[in-house]
Amino acid sequence: MLLHIHQLLSPSEVAEARQQLVDAPWQAGRRTAGPQAAQVKRNAQLPESSATAQSLRQLVLRGLENSAQFFSAALPKHISPPMFNRYAGDANTYGNHVDAAVRFLPDGKGRVRTDVSCTVFLSDPTSYDGGELVVEDTFGTQRIKLDAGDAVLYPGTSIHRVEPVTRGERLASFFWIQSMVRSDEQRRLLYDMDQHLMRLRTHLGETDPAIVGLTGTYHNLLRMWADV
Ligand code: NI
Repeated sequence: MLLHIHQLLSPSEVAEARQQLVDAPWQAGRRTAGPQAAQVKRNAQLPESSATAQSLRQLVLRGLENSAQFFSAALPKHISPPMFNRYAGDANTYGNHVDAAVRFLPDGKGRVRTDVSCTVFLSDPTSYDGGELVVEDTFGTQRIKLDAGDAVLYPGTSIHRVEPVTRGERLASFFWIQSMVRSDEQRRLLYDMDQHLMRLRTHLGETDPAIVGLTGTYHNLLRMWADV
């Protein structure tokens, strides 16, 4: 499932993030890529231990906590610490690759299976050319370039790339989610059901017997499929 989340970060949060990234200690992104991805990865990244990364990470995590849509779609069990990247100048692209199936967290703090990938766009799309996230989905090739503060969730299993940025700079946050529900297909069913239920509640109210029954069915499916 490929999902667009509007305004995961507010305009003021985006402004704060961009402000902090102006003088950030960027490093070559290749440093954290495996041997195959390193061949095609030409961008810059914030070192995970930098003060800027640590402070901005909290900002992104707060946005995730406040997003019911994110929870409904990702059903997160573990979230890898959000990282930050920059595409500009000569370091402006990341060719086709697959993300490693497991992220090892710094300082031996565990592992995250990368069921879902997330990118939060931080630059105004009119301020740069190129830089589309291109995801080879089961429904074909998707080209994604969102408003600053918007996020996209896409399956960790997909082959994807970031097109060369030919003008301006593209700043983003990226991270992975290990879901309580491992299967993309099951997560999609639960998400759809949850969204339809929310719409029905606005028409019928919380206590309509059919709403209560279907809410039970949602939770029973989640109970059957969730690994907590
Ligand atoms: Ni990737």
